[in-house]
Amino acid sequence: MTTTGDAGLSGTTGDWCGADPFEPSFRDNPYPALQGLRAREPVNLTPVNTWRISRYDDVSAVFKGAKTSMTLADGSSPNFDPLDIRGSFLEFMLNKDGPAHMRLRRLATLSLNAKTARLMENEVQLSVAAAMDTALAQGGMDVVRDMAHFVPSRMICQIMGIPAEDRALFDEWTAARTNAFFAKFLPPEVQQRTRDAGSAMADYFEALVAMRRKSPGNDLVSSMISAEADGEKLGDDELVVQAIGIIIAGYETTIGLIGNGLRAFLDHPEQLDKLRANPALINNAIEECLRFDTPILFNWRVLAEPFEVGGTLLPTDAVLWPMLGAANRDPARFPEPDRFDIERKDVAHQAFGGGSHFCIGSQLARMEARHAIGQFAERTRGIAIRQGKLEWSHSFFRVMAHLPITFA
Ligand code: HEM
Repeated sequence: MTTTGDAGLSGTTGDWCGADPFEPSFRDNPYPALQGLRAREPVNLTPVNTWRISRYDDVSAVFKGAKTSMTLADGSSPNFDPLDIRGSFLEFMLNKDGPAHMRLRRLATLSLNAKTARLMENEVQLSVAAAMDTALAQGGMDVVRDMAHFVPSRMICQIMGIPAEDRALFDEWTAARTNAFFAKFLPPEVQQRTRDAGSAMADYFEALVAMRRKSPGNDLVSSMISAEADGEKLGDDELVVQAIGIIIAGYETTIGLIGNGLRAFLDHPEQLDKLRANPALINNAIEECLRFDTPILFNWRVLAEPFEVGGTLLPTDAVLWPMLGAANRDPARFPEPDRFDIERKDVAHQAFGGGSHFCIGSQLARMEARHAIGQFAERTRGIAIRQGKLEWSHSFFRVMAHLPITFA
């Protein structure tokens, strides 16, 4: 076992090991770099004084075995931009611990759970069918705009009670606002765009909460207003921040899953044929999409007490970045991890995080992807990709801006 002395924690000795996640070039294909990182330094001190954990078993050990917090001992965030005030995620459930976290999570899951996914299923099916009708009539589509974005944006706005005419406002806001999770490490112009998106979303949801207080609807904002946990209701500021966090989570991640999943199929046409021949493979195929190109490459935890991981003893207050994208390609867990294989056995990936913060939208996201990718496979035949260079959105997550294709 190695221990981290003061020199190791001073922040000057770390190395990105060829896998700097803030480099624009990292985005197109981060996997060779993540493979190098895992092989060279599976427990890696970065130049920004955080510890990246990239082996599957080590990531699991952190989620299951470490006593962690989402904030430093002094209550501050290890990743957020301290100047980012309006719509700040400090009060979002993902940034909370213990009973304060459970209270917010319970209130949100009252109306965002497996039942919500079942109730939305018909709507999703119709939305996907409309997207495919238009695409087939036009002889092609932008996979991201016309499917990966089209379906989840409609679903999450409906769940939140956002009127259709306001939906387009969120296209840029949600993408920009994902950067808030790691804004401390981003360039000033991105920080500014992120703050602006936070202000705009806070204005929007303050007005929506006030409206729903007067006339409640059948939506998540209304149900969070009326819900009580432990005899206590949510205040306006708490409600606004949960709403911002949930809409971002519902929008951006699912665009990533459907868009990157469809790209994986387009790059591996034999897998698309396999799914066409056996549509019952769809559930496993979605898990393989989540493993193969994980929408959120890493999350964070702060150690609340010393913890040994991968043979290194890390101290209290060490900031950990579990590298979900690297864990999901760990050859010690997944044979031939760079192969996209929809018949892969035991695809227990880490795409939804773990422990008490495990994603609450996983069933909704899976259901949307099942229909989007399932109908795409069923209703298309010859496909040509029209795009040259990959274009990414402003999201911190793995979300493409466009992926145009034509049908033969
Ligand atoms: C493919 C789609 C999705 C992916 C990959 C994803 C991934 C994640 C990840 C990695 C986390 C952090 C977990 C942790 O730190 O351990 C998370 C948390 C969360 N997700 Fe998702 N998510 C997806 C879809 C959704 C959807 C559709 C919603 C809501 C409509 C949602 C709502 C949330 C919320 C509220 C949290 C915070 C939970 C907590 O702190 O207790 N997610 N998600």
